[in-house]
Amino acid sequence: MKRSSLAVDDSRENMIRKFKFTNYALFSSLVASMSGLLFGYNTAVISGALLFMTPDFDLTLFQEGVVASTILIGALIGAAMAGFLADQLGRKKTLSITAILYFIGIFFMTDAGTLGILLFGRLIAGFGVGIGSVTAPLYIAEMAPSEKRGRYVSLNQLMITIGVLLAFIVCFLYSEKQEWREMFAFGFLPLALLLLGLFFIPETPSWLISQGKKEKAETILHYLRIAHPNQHLVEVEKAEDTPESKNWHALFKPEMRKPLIVGIGLSLFQQITGINAITYFSSQIFQMAGFKSVEMATFASLLLGVVNVSMTIIALWLMDKLGRRVLLIAGLVGMIITLGFLGFSFMDPTRDAGILAALMVFCYVGSFAVSLGPIVWLMISEIYPLGIRGRAIGLATFLNWSANYIVSLFFLSVVQAIGPAIAFWIFMLISLIGLRFVWKMVPETKGKTLEEIQLAWKKT
Ligand code: BGC
Repeated sequence: MKRSSLAVDDSRENMIRKFKFTNYALFSSLVASMSGLLFGYNTAVISGALLFMTPDFDLTLFQEGVVASTILIGALIGAAMAGFLADQLGRKKTLSITAILYFIGIFFMTDAGTLGILLFGRLIAGFGVGIGSVTAPLYIAEMAPSEKRGRYVSLNQLMITIGVLLAFIVCFLYSEKQEWREMFAFGFLPLALLLLGLFFIPETPSWLISQGKKEKAETILHYLRIAHPNQHLVEVEKAEDTPESKNWHALFKPEMRKPLIVGIGLSLFQQITGINAITYFSSQIFQMAGFKSVEMATFASLLLGVVNVSMTIIALWLMDKLGRRVLLIAGLVGMIITLGFLGFSFMDPTRDAGILAALMVFCYVGSFAVSLGPIVWLMISEIYPLGIRGRAIGLATFLNWSANYIVSLFFLSVVQAIGPAIAFWIFMLISLIGLRFVWKMVPETKGKTLEEIQLAWKKT
């Protein structure tokens, strides 16, 4: 009798612990993921804003391209700096820097009286996008309970897709008033949530331990109510590398080769399989497919945003159940099939590609959203050892933004030169290579602690 009441007490105590851990870790992750929302919003809002700022600033076609892509240049520079900042200053301080950069960037974009000031604002906001895209998943991965890490880290990707959708909705609502400044200014809202939240969230225990600040780490672990705080500390310490891991060349040591190749490969395949060629230019693709009016094309893009968000939610639900590999493989197969049909629907230049093309664009984005979209950001935040984690994620993310920039810059010219059918088949071929890469190289990380993942690399 006594024993059973003890057992009840025990399990209740455990439930309370779990509840507190989940709440505080979830709250902190949600705050960090606001940087994902700002990433999605600021990269996508330009598609609507450009329509109205072009006459205001008398922009040429080339200048339009420069306005759209400056944020990507800022992002790739930001990503290159982010890992170093996150390892040196800590994850939370780096998130604060992200927020400040967003503030300056949005302020100048909203207030821009000349093209120069507008570009300055886009560049600074781009630094925020780049630094945030490295730091937010890293922060969340180090705060999340291991059995829910997939879901928590992917909150960031969910917020990216919500940010993109929000941008489409805001553009749609403000398009009648033609107020591009208000479109940019709307970004202050999620930024206010990020800034406010930063006052309440802690530094990650892993980073504190890597800096020898064990007591502080223990206090935070205590707040987080991990069931066995001491065991967690021991694991982190065991996985911690030798002091030379603080140097850049530690990234290129032979035992780091495999995680480095996996992270860089995933980052590149996320971009070179065509996602942004399709999302950034969705309105043009829908118009090529025969949905000629601007209203129809922008409305179809808005629906695409809804598909992206919905499928990301499904991925969030599945990734800690089915695992990362299954979703990556299934999603890539979906992308290969849809790209094949998409190319086929554009084969005859004398006819509109029609409904088949539109349907395939939706299915392609859906397939991406359950696989490469969330899982790449998740896996690059979990596969690297603590000592080099920030810099390794920074490198992978820098290459992600570089590939994004190149694909977005050249896609329309390539379509003009070789036609859309062949362009989509090239993406299909690259997706096929991506599938082989995942099959051969990418390990399953579901349910393992970050420290177990590191120890597994050491054993291979
Ligand atoms: C990618 C972005 C892409 C977005 C679309 C993200 O995971 O990194 O480049 O625009 O997904 O949802």
